[in-house]
Amino acid sequence: MKINDLFGIEGKVAVISGGSRGIGEMIAAGFLANGVKVYITARKERELHLKAEELSSTYGGECISIASDLSTVDGIKDFANQIKEKEEHIDFLINNAGAAWAEPFGAFSEGGWDKVMDLNVKSIFFLTQELAPLLRINGTPDDPSRIINIGSIDGMNVAAFETYSYGASKAAVHHLTRHLAARLIDENILVNGIAPGPFPSNMLGAAVAHDYSEIAKRNPRKRIGTPQDMAGLAIFLCSRAGAFTVGETITCDGGVVKLGGHNLG
Ligand SMILES: NC(=O)c1ccc[n+]([C@@H]2O[C@H](COP(=O)([O-])OP(=O)(O)OC[C@H]3O[C@@H](n4cnc5c(N)ncnc54)[C@H](OP(=O)(O)O)[C@@H]3O)[C@@H](O)[C@H]2O)c1
Repeated sequence: MKINDLFGIEGKVAVISGGSRGIGEMIAAGFLANGVKVYITARKERELHLKAEELSSTYGGECISIASDLSTVDGIKDFANQIKEKEEHIDFLINNAGAAWAEPFGAFSEGGWDKVMDLNVKSIFFLTQELAPLLRINGTPDDPSRIINIGSIDGMNVAAFETYSYGASKAAVHHLTRHLAARLIDENILVNGIAPGPFPSNMLGAAVAHDYSEIAKRNPRKRIGTPQDMAGLAIFLCSRAGAFTVGETITCDGGVVKLGGHNLG
């Protein structure tokens, strides 16, 4: 019952998609600070490599960058093959990379639909399919491997923005989380989701010109999320403490969904 036994994740190996900034970076920082070897991936190579260097030096752990585009199955296979060349097993897969798109209902484009669905939904399924063999290696009934899919409260509540494909994609992520959880539990891989509310990032920042004050005011907690909020929940889900939580998508939103705050973010 000691805190280290309940929440310790030292020595594990994690893959985080979209780890170069935002929510993926927050989870990477939390893992690295607690002794996890972390692989991050994103498209923009330079930004990604610099982030890996910064995270390694800030937290003293090993953060390795591999650039990829996960929006196609070819890109996913290429990334997974590079992981397979470097690691004989992985313990955690964090399916975080995502994109949003807003356009008025009458003008909403096929491109805006497909871009979001391909990255937010398709890439989670196929990256999980590709990396499941590595997750199976060290998973045991006492210490299963973990997958966390990053959904959104926009997949639970209707968003304030005209982000039709995004909300639908995130509802799909939450359901896919349950389906994959059912399929993988007997292989000692536990699948859960996190549905973030507002967190500072390029994605949310772009919608509000990086001024989060209005969003904070409307949030039941009167603030937006912090790296500690996000990393803490991810660590719980990957630790001994989270080993009986399966197929859940847990909100991390300051109470927006449960208390009926405004759905900005
Ligand atoms: N921030 C929020 O308030 C909020 C709320 C709810 C849910 N979320 C979810 O949280 C996740 C992270 O979003 P964020 O807010 O942190 O956004 P962000 O700051 O835009 O970060 C997105 C990350 O994904 C990477 N990425 C984008 N397209 C990619 C591709 N095709 N292949 C590989 N990597 C790609 C980006 O790097 P590159 O651009 O270099 O590829 C970046 O590292 C998303 O799933 C999002 O839907 C965020």
